[in-house]
Amino acid sequence: MKQSNFGVIGLGVMGSNLSLNIAEKGHQLSVYNRSEGNEINIIRDFLNDHSDFRNIAGFTDLSTFVNSLKTPRKILLMIKAGSVIDSVLEQLTPLLSENDVVIDGGNSHYLDSKRRFETLQKSKIHFVGTGISGGESGARKGPSIMPGGNLESYQLIAPILESIAAKDKNGNPCCTFIGKDGAGHFIKMVHNGIEYAEMQLLAECYALLKSPLSYSEISNLFSEWNKGELSSYLLEITANIFNKKEDETYLLDLILDKAGNKGTGSWSSKAALDLGFPVTMMSDAVFARYISAFKTQRIALSRKVKTSDSNTHKINIEQLKNAYQFARIINHHQGFALIQQASETYDWQLNLSEIARIWTNGCIIRSHLMERFVEYFKTEKELIHHNKVVQTLNNSEIDIQNILTNGIQNRIPTPTLSSAFQYWISMSSEHLSANLIQAQRDYFGSHTYQRIDKNWDKNFHTNW
Ligand code: 6PG
Repeated sequence: MKQSNFGVIGLGVMGSNLSLNIAEKGHQLSVYNRSEGNEINIIRDFLNDHSDFRNIAGFTDLSTFVNSLKTPRKILLMIKAGSVIDSVLEQLTPLLSENDVVIDGGNSHYLDSKRRFETLQKSKIHFVGTGISGGESGARKGPSIMPGGNLESYQLIAPILESIAAKDKNGNPCCTFIGKDGAGHFIKMVHNGIEYAEMQLLAECYALLKSPLSYSEISNLFSEWNKGELSSYLLEITANIFNKKEDETYLLDLILDKAGNKGTGSWSSKAALDLGFPVTMMSDAVFARYISAFKTQRIALSRKVKTSDSNTHKINIEQLKNAYQFARIINHHQGFALIQQASETYDWQLNLSEIARIWTNGCIIRSHLMERFVEYFKTEKELIHHNKVVQTLNNSEIDIQNILTNGIQNRIPTPTLSSAFQYWISMSSEHLSANLIQAQRDYFGSHTYQRIDKNWDKNFHTNW
């Protein structure tokens, strides 16, 4: 068997679909999976199921797998994030040569990727922490790919990664060198934070719509919205979800209202807290999932409260549409502003327009709005200061106010719609009540305060 020019370690859902994508593009590919426990037949079954691909070699021995690769070797790890990556690197590194490239395509934490980048750099091996978005179908047909590491390693792997990536509207790959060390996984983490809030916004629209409208009416409404400015992958799949039945029952009504998560959303909130940036919406989306998980407690409490069970709940669909778009814009602004903050803190020199471009296709948050942001970032670093964004937010402020009032009056939780509105009115207020916070801090802790009638770089204390 001739040597392969790319290797994949880990044939789970994402690893196997990416491998098929790579092989389909004509690359000679080696695949490896450990053959222990319930994974003993993974390689055998994968090769049998895809025997039509003559350019895939399968291995269950790591060193044979490594020796099947042309140098400089390019190996993609598609394994569970966390300590497993470190143990695989411990086995793999001694088998590698200088200038080989190890790509971690899992949802690893960006600080882990930074550490791994620096550790392998000492052995002159390239480590590329890479966000890969698009789920199973994205992996198979074309994901959005967000490599970090350094430019030298990117140039070694770009031909293959760009060949399997989704394409933007101009036919360019949704794959680009993001920035050094952990930048790729940081961007993927923020992608997931934006994704959490986008999903939560749709869940809140569902909560507001489900008594005035039937599921098929909600599906039709979302499909209608998906034809215009609001179009997105998440809106499209959500419209389909409302039509799915099991026998004569809507599947959605059979699904328990306890949301899970694999952690990337909470990482975004923690990173933002460490960087001192208010990503209020993705944090509220994470907390909404956590609250949903207290199902037993929610049942018990629900028995003790009066609920407005009037089914006469009405809602202005046009106002909801504008409120939804208002909140989406704030969500994306917060995500990109967090990226900009990290770029300055870690000296990653990130290109926000290019990041928006590789998110216009292949990834879970692809949307028409993202297409607009590609252009906006060419002239403005912060979305919320772009004239067209301010105009949209000003024009739809009354709509989100009415929708929030409707939710409050009908006891319908709308945490991320509320968060969007609160963020906007706070960020667009010259005077907030934080002067009282400063007075309180100085009163009990002598923490001092600045004065509006003095130079702001001076601090004062009062003996209260
Ligand atoms: C993607 C998705 C994906 C995500 C999983 C689980 O970009 O393809 O964001 O990477 O991590 O769908 O996400 P949660 O379990 O955290 O919701």
